[in-house]
Amino acid sequence: MSGGSDVPSATGTGRAFGKVILFGEHAVVYGVPALAAGISKGVRATAQAAKDDELWLNDRRLEGDHELYQALRKLRGSLAVPAASLSLRVELPLGAGLGSSAAMAVASARALGELHRSTVSEREVFAAAQAWERVFHGNPSGIDVAAAQAMGLIAFSRGEEPQSAPFSGHLYLAVAQAGPPASTKTMVEGVARIQKRNPEQFSKTLEAISSLVHNARVLLRQGDQAAVGKLMDLNQMLLSGWMLSTEEIETACAVARHSGALGAKLTGAGGGGCVVALCANNHLQEKVLSAWESKNISCFSADVVGDGGQHHEHV
Ligand code: PMV
Repeated sequence: MSGGSDVPSATGTGRAFGKVILFGEHAVVYGVPALAAGISKGVRATAQAAKDDELWLNDRRLEGDHELYQALRKLRGSLAVPAASLSLRVELPLGAGLGSSAAMAVASARALGELHRSTVSEREVFAAAQAWERVFHGNPSGIDVAAAQAMGLIAFSRGEEPQSAPFSGHLYLAVAQAGPPASTKTMVEGVARIQKRNPEQFSKTLEAISSLVHNARVLLRQGDQAAVGKLMDLNQMLLSGWMLSTEEIETACAVARHSGALGAKLTGAGGGGCVVALCANNHLQEKVLSAWESKNISCFSADVVGDGGQHHEHV
């Protein structure tokens, strides 16, 4: 990773992860803590010096008017590095609520750091990736970027350093793409309108989500995943009250629960995109995935191993 050597290299490389939000999306924008897990699928970036910016996405060169160029300029501005040719290999579905944009940003910041500078701190990577994220979404809480930088479970509160969230055991997660993704910006704006219409009711829901997050952390530490699953179902109910669910999301959640998942909810912005289901073991995880596949819902597994919530900054 970036750091260590005194001389910038001719090629810089960087890696970052996708994420699933287990609890607290949207509420996190209003200061409630959220729980997210970095997953092993992510983005690899390779940067080389160039006169003008060049972006390649899975071997396809992007046209100069693509908005990722604007994001790249913001990212470079934050890191104070010159133009580069960046090649991004993305293993995640794009714009599905799995943090592909933040993972691209973090991997790019790390690759550019290695190419042009001797050291780039994780704090600088965070700031640069947030500058990238603001191009797509005016008010990002930073949870996607924090999860893209880490592996394992993190507790994230806006404006604070992410904390590792130690837990016992192994989380067998199943992730489904429940319909085309909606824009995060649009969904966040929709929730802001709901807040404006009824601020008192809104703060009650925020309080409820806040206690779900708190209880989920305690239960995860205790290894009571069955109870964690029930809290996921409750979080889903509250999110649907904010008009973030869709018929496809509800179907994917119902299929997962019916196949033995401990709980299921949308993850990320909602309005489409992904659903995450918590399963008690590998067998039930396979069962949930097969049930989704039989309904032509594309899906994959994403395990999170309890390692004391250790952050792996360099991969
Ligand atoms: O980028 P997405 O779709 O994973 O959503 C990010 C999570 C939100 O809480 C909806 C927005 C934010 O900035 O935290």
